[in-house]
Amino acid sequence: MMRTVVLKCPPDDLEKAAQVLREGGLVAFPTETVYGLGANALDEKAVAKIFHAKGRPPDNPLIVHLASAEDLPQVVASIPPEAIVLASRFWPGPLTLVLPRKDEVPLITTGGLETVAVRVPDHPLALELIRRSGVPVAGPSANLSGRPSPTTAAHVLEDLGDKVDVIIDGGPTGLGVESTVLDLTTSPPVLLRPGGVTWEALEEVLGKVILDPAILAKEPIEEGPVRSPGMKYRHYAPKAKVYLVEGQDEERIAARVDSLAAELAAAGLKVGVLATAEGAARCGRGLVLIGGSRRDPAALAASLFAHLRTFDRLDVDAVVVEGIKPVGLGLAVMNRLRKAAGYNIIEA
Ligand code: TXA
Ligand code: MG
Repeated sequence: MMRTVVLKCPPDDLEKAAQVLREGGLVAFPTETVYGLGANALDEKAVAKIFHAKGRPPDNPLIVHLASAEDLPQVVASIPPEAIVLASRFWPGPLTLVLPRKDEVPLITTGGLETVAVRVPDHPLALELIRRSGVPVAGPSANLSGRPSPTTAAHVLEDLGDKVDVIIDGGPTGLGVESTVLDLTTSPPVLLRPGGVTWEALEEVLGKVILDPAILAKEPIEEGPVRSPGMKYRHYAPKAKVYLVEGQDEERIAARVDSLAAELAAAGLKVGVLATAEGAARCGRGLVLIGGSRRDPAALAASLFAHLRTFDRLDVDAVVVEGIKPVGLGLAVMNRLRKAAGYNIIEA
């Protein structure tokens, strides 16, 4: 295996990274959401390296990244009018569209599905990398399967340092949660994963958009077909046991976070608390990390995965998390938190 090179990315280095992609190697790259682990989406062998590096189950399909909506016909068999409207409104940006697969896209990329997920990321380094490589770039989040998604190059190095050829360091990613995944192969469209583009924003453009029931599930999805295979796997999980406190009343949630942290600490556990700025003010116990204000879900989203990784480094036994309202970006945050907690939800 080639030694991992971390590139700060002047144009010459970007050219080297693009060449690695053309030659079937793995390049981790920044996007506006999280870091991606890229390979040529049309090259079965290269894509196999992604699954191997991440330890990802083979039925969990990858997102194909394009430099422009004009490249859609390279990977998609037919383009519905909704896709054109959404692309012009939200691309480049954190919206992934599930569309019919073109035969040129190998089944390994789509996890065996006849559909393919595509997006145009809103990040200059990602766009330039894809453009220069001249190929569509398959890119899951660049973490080991099951770990929190990486929002810095250091996170990628931590998880995949010896498994990728190049890491492009673009600094911390802006959004911090992954793209919204929307299935356009059914009518009305189905939201499979909430993310950077909100459900509310999609409904404004499309009219009705169905929320896949798995998104706010309060328990794990068992057997049976799920529409987005990624939803059935435990995700984003720190090593500690996570307790997610939810409820209607913000003050009661904050109070329950504090009392639960106290109970766990009294039982001899090393306790971490992930709180909002408002909730932290009444939290007297544990190692408290503040995500941001309750009124600012963007700040909570941006810091979420980095904080989960910090709890791992602090080696806490338990993490108590203050839940927020699942509206706007808060829906993506709560979806990730429920998975991180393994659905260990405490009602306040
Ligand atoms: O923001 C993002 O989307 C990041 C950056 C790197 O672009 N990528 C990312 O990829 O989060 P990944 O692999 O971690 O998540 C892809 C999600 C999974 O839940 C997967 O099941 C779903 O998209 N997905 C991919 N292809 C699909 C398809 N054809 N049908 C349904 N769901 C699909
Ligand atoms: Mg992922």
